[in-house]
Amino acid sequence: MTYDHIRVAPISTALGAEIGGVDLATPPAEPVLAEIRHAFGEHGVIFFRDQRLTPEQHLAFARCFGGIDVNRFFAAVPGYPMIAEVRKEPEQRRNIGNGWHTDHSYDLAPAVGSMLYAREVPTTGGDTLFAGMYAAYDALSDGLKRTLDGLKALHSSRHVFGAEADARRGDLKGRIGNPELATQDAVHPVVIRHPETGRKALYVNPGFTTRFDGWTEEESRSLLDYLYRHAVRPEFTIRFHWREGSIAFWDNRSTWHFAVNDYHGERRLLHRITIEGVPLN
Ligand code: SIN
Repeated sequence: MTYDHIRVAPISTALGAEIGGVDLATPPAEPVLAEIRHAFGEHGVIFFRDQRLTPEQHLAFARCFGGIDVNRFFAAVPGYPMIAEVRKEPEQRRNIGNGWHTDHSYDLAPAVGSMLYAREVPTTGGDTLFAGMYAAYDALSDGLKRTLDGLKALHSSRHVFGAEADARRGDLKGRIGNPELATQDAVHPVVIRHPETGRKALYVNPGFTTRFDGWTEEESRSLLDYLYRHAVRPEFTIRFHWREGSIAFWDNRSTWHFAVNDYHGERRLLHRITIEGVPLN
């Protein structure tokens, strides 16, 4: 596709592109949106810089991509129940998202994408890493691809957001909560075909996948661990450095992400909106 309305600068061959030439304060016209949707599907995560958005404008842009999927565990931005707050204060030690994961994979219809908008960022640090699951899948041997193509895996929210995890929450308490709502488990194919790009992507992640369907956790462990090591090889990952006004919009069907916790003593505040998805197959 040629881009006539936006500039698209790929960050690596595996994933990521910075988008220029668009002001998101008003929802873009349909031809511009079509190009943004295309770049989102192709690159897995797209970034915008220097945007000045109110929460209403952030919501209006997110709604261009579907309904809003409200996260049950994150504290909301005061007055905006549909926007999750990703906050770490100077005196807090733990951050949200400090491990490789795919948002909402524990849901029957996992969120299509997540749109994170930076309101306040540390002077250094606080970057987010992304890993590309198209590239990770493509690089597997044909034999392993054939094995994985026939498998499904169980994803759960219980061990991350449930009562036991809540008891170990430390200073994340208050930012993450509602352990009684951690009842979701879901079974998804281990390899999914992206509905827009038609490409295959590896769909397991260290945060929420617990085992292969029909296998025990012990039997699943070594193959899952192999896939997790493989998927974060440097050539499948990128690192995004935030500035105030940056937006990262990632496709949960084809990427993982990891929030680096290296900025103690400084505040980092972002607003996250997740876009509803459909069951994967
Ligand atoms: C998240 O996991 O959604 C948070 C990512 C970040 O704070 O960089």
